[in-house]
Amino acid sequence: MKKNPFYLKEIPVDAPFCDREKELADLISYAKSNINVVLFSPRRYGKTSLTKRVQNSLKSDGTLTAYCDLFGVTSVEEIAGRIARSIYAVTHKNQGMFQKAIGFITSFRPVLSPSPEGGISVSVQTAFKTDGLKILEDTMEFLEKFIIDVALPVHVAFDEFQEIAEVHNSIGIEGILRQYIQKIQCSFFFIGSRRRILLDIFNDRKRPFFQSSLNYELKPLPHKDMVLFITSEFKRAGKYINEEDASEICQLVSNHPYYMQKFCFFLYEEIDKKVTRKDIAEIKAVVVESERVVFESILQGLRTKQINILSALAKEPTAKVYSASYMARHNLRSTGGIQQGLNTLSKKDLIEKDYRTGVWFVVDPIFVRWLIEMSL
Ligand SMILES: Nc1ncnc2c1ncn2[C@@H]1O[C@H](COP(=O)(O)OP(=O)(O)OP(=O)(O)O)[C@@H](O)[C@H]1O
Ligand SMILES: [Mg+2]
Repeated sequence: MKKNPFYLKEIPVDAPFCDREKELADLISYAKSNINVVLFSPRRYGKTSLTKRVQNSLKSDGTLTAYCDLFGVTSVEEIAGRIARSIYAVTHKNQGMFQKAIGFITSFRPVLSPSPEGGISVSVQTAFKTDGLKILEDTMEFLEKFIIDVALPVHVAFDEFQEIAEVHNSIGIEGILRQYIQKIQCSFFFIGSRRRILLDIFNDRKRPFFQSSLNYELKPLPHKDMVLFITSEFKRAGKYINEEDASEICQLVSNHPYYMQKFCFFLYEEIDKKVTRKDIAEIKAVVVESERVVFESILQGLRTKQINILSALAKEPTAKVYSASYMARHNLRSTGGIQQGLNTLSKKDLIEKDYRTGVWFVVDPIFVRWLIEMSL
């Protein structure tokens, strides 16, 4: 029996990838021209996997590529440590380069240990006691010197970059990072899905990163490419789905890359040889159910008024949220409450306003289905 060709977990960098050819070419070309890029989209559109492919291609052309995940950072020391770790992680297999990194980045020592997957995992220890912003400043200065010394093209990806905005003294942190990023001769990518927070860092004229980078939005996958991807992956792995059914899946998940993989993963597991309509209906329920815990915990963090707006927008996206008829249809009482709710929900990236049509809608397509089912 062949292996399921779809992924529930992180997609490996050499697995088949749907489309994104233009994005890949654009991003590689920006990186090679030392342009800094803000790469943003709603959750799970493929920013991280695309960035890893960009870095893979750059690496094969001789670029030193560092990947720094800032998810969950809570302090400036931790940010500095993650930066140092990303350099040790990319250099540790090359003795000469690793020694160089250790020689320059003296604020943190590398700690190498066997990882559960059989490789080596890299962590860091602070080498000397420095307080707050100074350790970040030192680390960035060491990074700058290291990059000058290695004399190679360098690319640094900061994933979940918006997290720095939630750390104490974030403006101070942004100031230091900006100062060095401007000086260092390489390309930086700033990646994130909390778009309001991320874009505010770059688009607010009072913030250090104002207009320092090129904004690049990742859209959902094109419908045609996704249909072709689904049919050909089923075929490659010895099973069959027709174009019409593949197209229906794309519609059900609104061309969302992660949900497409999840849907097809379950579907491939479920069927014997050939997909039927009944299978699709069944798997639709399975996919929605598989996200239930996540959705419930989102609702737990919201007030009743906000949930009412969310549920109204799931059932009926609208540009006229304040109209008397919309408010009456969805039991929304005060315009002040709606305004506040829209603001909170969009800050959390749960809803969004289409800038061309003015229509408010719920961002996650499976969340929409779940909210509708819940309120029946
Ligand atoms: N172009 C693609 N072709 C096939 N699958 C894709 C594609 N892009 C993304 N995926 C699927 O979606 C999953 C989520 O992608 P990824 O983690 O890169 O998204 P992300 O935008 O970084 O998410 P987050 O916002 O949660 O960080 C991947 O593991 C993969 O299964
Ligand atoms: Mg990601």
